[in-house]
Formats: sequence, C-alpha cells, structure tokens
Amino acid sequence: MYDLIIEDGTVVSGTGRQVADVAIEGGTITYVGPRPAGGAKRRVSAAGRYVLPGFIDTHVHFRDPGHPHKEDWESGSRAAVIGGVTTVCDMPNTSPPTITVAAWEDKAARAAARSRANYGIWFGGAAGQVDEARRMADEGPACGIKVFMGASTGPLLVDDATLVELFMRTDALIGVHAESEAVLAEQRAAWSGRTPPTHHDARPAAAAVEAVRRLIELCRARPRPVHVCHVSTAAELAELEAVRGQLPFTLEVSPHHLWLDNTMPLGNLGKVNPPLRPPADRAALWDALTRGVLDTVGSDHAPHTLEEKGRPYDQAPAGLPGVEMVFSLLAGAVHEGRLSVERMVSLCAEAPARLFGFAAKGRVVEGADADLLIYAPSDLVALSATQVLTRVGWSPFLGVLGHPHPDEVLVGGRLVAARGQMVDDDARGALVRPARRF
Ligand code: DOR
Ligand code: ZN
Ligand code: ZN
Repeated sequence: MYDLIIEDGTVVSGTGRQVADVAIEGGTITYVGPRPAGGAKRRVSAAGRYVLPGFIDTHVHFRDPGHPHKEDWESGSRAAVIGGVTTVCDMPNTSPPTITVAAWEDKAARAAARSRANYGIWFGGAAGQVDEARRMADEGPACGIKVFMGASTGPLLVDDATLVELFMRTDALIGVHAESEAVLAEQRAAWSGRTPPTHHDARPAAAAVEAVRRLIELCRARPRPVHVCHVSTAAELAELEAVRGQLPFTLEVSPHHLWLDNTMPLGNLGKVNPPLRPPADRAALWDALTRGVLDTVGSDHAPHTLEEKGRPYDQAPAGLPGVEMVFSLLAGAVHEGRLSVERMVSLCAEAPARLFGFAAKGRVVEGADADLLIYAPSDLVALSATQVLTRVGWSPFLGVLGHPHPDEVLVGGRLVAARGQMVDDDARGALVRPARRF
C-alpha cells in the first residue's frame, strides 16, 4: 500500500518530461510510471501540473548560530520549503564560524532540531584547519569546503598559503567566493575617504577575474572539483569558459546577478558581495545560462536587517535575502520563455545533487527521496510582501514579475507547505551528505 500517489503530473527531469504517476512509500519514491496497480492511502491529482524534484539551494547563510534576529534554522527553512527549496546547504560564516569539528556538530544539531528542509553543512576553509577540513569534508559529513578569497561578511578570509594547502591536501568539493583580496585592498586604498558611485566600482570585475585566474592556476597544478560561487561578470565567465571541459570547474549563478544590476535604485538593499554589476554583465550571465555554461543556481540568501541596511554605505553590511524567491523568479523566466522547465530543474535540483554527491536527491525516479515541488503554470505576479518570508522582512526583488508560490511542497514524502503556507510544521529535514568517496 502506497502512502501517496501523485497522479497524471508532468514529471520533469533535467533532460525531458513525461506524464506519469509518482508513488511514495515511507519518504521514498517507489514508483514512477503509468497508473500503478495497488492501493494508496492518499491520491492527489497533478493533471496539468508539473511535478519537479524539490529545489536544492547549496548557498544559504542562515545565521544560526550567531544572529538569530536575522534568520535561524526555523525561519530560514520555513522560507525555503514554502518556496519549493527542500534542501539547503548552509555557509560557514556564522558566529562562531564553522571551522572546527565542534562548531560543525553544533550547527548540525541545531539544524536537526529545527530545520524543515533537508540540510547540508559546509565546512569553512581556514588557516591551521586543513586537517579538520579533510576529516569533515573528505571523510566526513560536510557537504564541501567553503573558501573566501576576499573578505566579505564575517572573519573567514583565506590566505594564499592556506588556499594552496587546501587545494593540494583535500579532495572534497571546494566552493569559492572568488574575489581577490589584493585587488579589493587596492580599491579600498583608492576610494579611501570617498564614496564610490556604486558598490561595483569599489569591488570591480578585476577582483573576480584575478581570483578566478589564481583558481585556474591551482587547478592546473592539481585538478580537483571547484565550484565557483555567484559568478557575476562577463570577464570571469570568459576565463572559466576557456578551461571548461579541461579542468573540473563548475559554476553557480545567483538570482540577484540575473535579475538586478547596478543601475537600479536599490541603495544598500542592493549592496552584496560580489556586487550587482552593470547591465552588460547581467546580459552575459543570461546568455551563459541559456547556453548551458552555468551549472547551478544558488540564492546566496544572506539576510541583514533593515536597520543595518539603513546605515551609511560604508557601514552597511553586504548581503541580501532570496531563498524564498528562487522558484518564483526561475519559474517566471520559464513562463516568459527565457528558459525551459527542464533547464530550471537541471540548475536548481539535478545538477546540485550530482555535483555535491547527494545521490538520493534531485530526481523524480524510483529510489529517490520524495522531495517534490508541484505547480501549475500560471500568470505571473509582481513579487510583493506576500512572497517575503525571511525574518528580516524585506526583499530586493519586490516588483519583479515572478510565479506565485509552488502549489505543494513535499519533504521526505510529507506535505509540508502549500500555496505560500506551512501546512505541516512538525516535520524535520535530514542531513544530506556526499555519497561519493573521492
Ligand atoms: O554579500 C555577501 N554577504 N557576500 C558574502 O560573501 C557573505 C554574505 C553574508 O554572509 O552576509
Ligand atoms: Zn560569497
Ligand atoms: Zn554567500
């Protein structure tokens, strides 16, 4: 007896679609195909609707431990699942930073108690912590090693010697915030005492290009998986495209670099690292997205309060929320014909699962975990306060045309959210860990 059969939906993968039933038993998809024989405790019709693997956002900053007034595992994971994100990977620039086994385990315990989404937890690359990074990410449960090449929010900045050591002595996926600290320092000196016209002028494309060139050098010396986070400029893309297929780089793009640019009147709400770029960079990212050069979409959900954002430019923290908007924005682009639903599934579910080694995630197939997002294509809406779910209560995307919330979101076979509301707040997600051993 199945727990649930989702009937007649259009089941989408990264490469195609089929009308099929999806049967679930005990949190697992146990059948996909024509109407199965045998009973079910519950049946849901998905006729005329898409059935997608739940989205996997491998780039969130949930601020727990450290700054629960901005976000914590409860508020962040609710925002995620209502928005169709059934798995999140949390970044290590929390307080304390996730650079020791104890800090990683403390964060995992917090997530286990409170996260409504499944969760992976990054280990932070830091000087003197390479052995622990090996233990946690190569051999243990961390989803990867996150490295900040340029200073951003929090104390995690890796010097070149540590970066080299991480490259040479670990095998796990490295995720990189690729802005060169040397270029950023030059710019700080150049702008000292003055306010740049936009944040992009203070952290120009050259910082990203310099960082990416160093990564390419290191990867030539020792090829190993590197996921470049939030690629934001045409110049970076050119460097990375030149080595695509030769070196094991994969690329993440963030919605704010696709939907927003530095000509928009966002003030500090649009202050983020790497910065919002000029429109030509944005166009280059869309072009790369449609050509299949970008692998994953990560929200880089990084909430700060309106009070903090109201400070003068040089004192306002960088970062903006967005985990709850990924589906709305991407499905909106699908609706407008800017990308296919298959490509959206690849970017937001299938590719993240494959690259991070989450073997049971990212696909609607027999044996996979029953993390699902169901939606009926509908007219777009101007995103408004109704869509904002982060604890900080604002979004830089208001007014952008997007798809309303998913109709239904299942985590581990349980219906947890529907049409913008939590319907089951008692279910807890589970830790996801890389299945591959390197
Ligand atoms: O703008 C940013 N905010 N960039 C980062 O790298 C970190 C993030 C944050 O945690 O606020
Ligand atoms: Zn970053
Ligand atoms: Zn980030």
